[in-house]
Order: sequence, then structure tokens, then C-alpha cells
Amino acid sequence: MIDDLKKEIEGARQSFVNELEQIQSPEKLAALKERYLARKNGVISRFLSGLKECAVPEKPAAGQAINQLKAFIEQALGAAAEKHGAAVAGPSEWLDHSLPASDLPVGRFHLIADIQRQIEELFLNLGYEIAVGPEVELEDYNFTKLNIPEFHPARDEQDTFFLDGFDDQVLRTHTSPMQVRYMLAHRPPLKIISPGKAFRKDDPDATHSPCFHQVEGLLVDRGIHFSHLKGTLEAFCRSFFGQDIVLRFRPGYFPFTEPSAEVDISCFLCSPAGSLAQGQPSSSPAGPSPAGSRAQGQSSSTPAGSDPSCRVCKGSGWLELGGSGMVHPQVLLNCGIDPEEYSGFAFGMGIERVAMVKYGVPDLRLLYENDLRLLGQFG
Ligand code: DAH
Repeated sequence: MIDDLKKEIEGARQSFVNELEQIQSPEKLAALKERYLARKNGVISRFLSGLKECAVPEKPAAGQAINQLKAFIEQALGAAAEKHGAAVAGPSEWLDHSLPASDLPVGRFHLIADIQRQIEELFLNLGYEIAVGPEVELEDYNFTKLNIPEFHPARDEQDTFFLDGFDDQVLRTHTSPMQVRYMLAHRPPLKIISPGKAFRKDDPDATHSPCFHQVEGLLVDRGIHFSHLKGTLEAFCRSFFGQDIVLRFRPGYFPFTEPSAEVDISCFLCSPAGSLAQGQPSSSPAGPSPAGSRAQGQSSSTPAGSDPSCRVCKGSGWLELGGSGMVHPQVLLNCGIDPEEYSGFAFGMGIERVAMVKYGVPDLRLLYENDLRLLGQFG
């Protein structure tokens, strides 16, 4: 009995070798594998199920002979698979094409890109267009046409990167020059936001970075006044930070707007809407004043209702968000727009600042370290 079985096994081995020699393609190889190794009705499994016919003393030798054939076939198939460039599945490994695919890691937007998109989305819904300007800007547009003439002290606040060999160009220190570009190229009515990078020669710390992001807004039309600016920023802040947010406009100074105002929002974490009095906004943790320049003051008085130990506003009850104002008549003139006929408002916000305010990010540098444990929480 065992001798017969051994002969049969040897016969099977021979025919396998002959068939393998004829194989030209991975598909044929897979079919051969199926014929010999399939669990149901494969040559090997048929030998194994025949084992029960064997007399008990012969079983071990019979089993060993079958296993040797199986090992031989697996090894030969593996070598042939490599030769044919077929997907090399392990010798006894089976591909189940019906299994669901394994998860692919999917990327997401960086927090700054994500916030920028959210802001864009909101202003698109208010009927604004998105205008994108160059990061290398004419000094004339970055400063002079924005009513910041050479030797004006306001230039000192924006420590500037100049470009070797290009005396008239700078890395833009804010996105406001896009106002100039747009007004020079278009006639009112104008309604744009302009997001992008800005650069200042600042040493990096928790609230400063030599490269940061801003969103500029500009609206010019007939009969535009300050309440349009307030209404627009209020609509934006309520959609973006929550319906309970209160806005505060503090007198400010920017050469390209008159009057100018700094915009604060009530601290979303600790200040109940309506309970806010006169306090200075916190310059921390949200870092650079909205436009990216150094923040001016710390809180001197605490509004009723705010939490003195609040980690977001540091107890001031207010968070500084951005700069804004009515476009200065001189800027309109510089751009060929008659200030007797048209007026407009403008505003600028730092995107990092907005991200830090919205999510309570304590250090601006965290946003640039690309640590997935932080970035993976957003977007
Ligand atoms: N460009 C200013 C800065 O970076 C921010 C700013 C203030 C923009 C007032 C404006 C504005 O459009 O009206 O400091």
C-alpha cells in the first residue's frame, strides 16, 4: 500500500515538474498552484484525505512523503513566481481578493492652510473675491502708495527684508500692498480678500516668526462708511468664532486708513457675551498683533465676568484680532480713485493669530514644527 502511494506521489511530482516547465505566464503559474495546492480538491489535499485509507503503521511514512511533495511544490512555485515576476505570495499564503483594502494614510490640510480656507469660504459667501498677490513686492506698493513715505517712522515697525541687487523690491511686510495692486488694476466697486505670506526680520519666539500669514480685506464703493466695516467684521467673527462673540473697536493708527481701529473679540473661553468692559486685549497666547507686528500692552483692568486665570486671554477678557479702518483718501488718490466719489474700508488679520485664538495654541512655533501629534488634531 505504502509503495503504491509512493509511486503515485512520485508520478504527481513528475507531472508537476513537466507542467511547470511549460509555464510561460504568471496567470498559468497561479492556475498550476491552484491545481496542486488548493485546499479543496488540490492534488496534495486529495493525497492527504486518502491517508485515512492507509494502515495505521504506514500512516507516518505516507504523511511524510506527502509533506515532502508539498514542500517541493511550494519551493518550486516560489522560485518560478520570482522568475515570472508574479506577485510573490509566500508559499502557503493565499490571496483573498475579496478582502477589504487596508487603510491608506490620508493627508490633511495644515492648520494654517485650513484656517485660511475657512476664512476664504466665509468671505466668498459674503460676495468677496479672492485676489492673490506676489510675495516679492515693490517697495512703492508695500510702503509709499500706502501712505508710508520713505523715512516715515511707521516703516521702522516693519523690519524689512530687502533684496540684494533689487533696490526697489522687498519681501512684502504685510498683505496690504495687494490693496494697491487691486485698486490700480480695477475700478470700484471692489470687494476682495487677499490671503498670503508676509515677512519681517523678526527673531522667532512664542508670538513672532520671520514668515507669517495674513488675510487682507478691501471694499471700495460709493457711500461706504465705518458701520459697513463693523457689520462685516461682526458677521465674519460670529460665523467663525461663534454667535456670542462681542467685537470691540479700539482707536489705532495705520498710515493707510483714517480713522483706524484695532479689532478685539471677547474671549470665547471665559468672557460671557455682554459682560465686557474696558480692558486691554491680551497679547498672548495668540501672539503677534493681528497684523504680525509686536503687541502693545498687557491688560490693565479685568472686565467683569472674565476669568482672571483664563489661559486664552490671560484674564483680560479680550483677544486682539486685527487692524482695520477706512481707506485713507490719499491711498485712494495714489491708486487713481477719486475720494470725493468713493470711500472704502480695509482690514488685516494674522492667520496664525486667528488659529492661536481659535484653538488656544500657546506658541506660534508649534505651527511650523510639523509635529503630527499636534497637526493631526486639525484639518
Ligand atoms: N497691514 C497692517 C499690518 O500688517 C494690518 C492692517 C491694519 C491692514 C489696518 C489693514 C488695515 O487693511 O486697514 O500691520
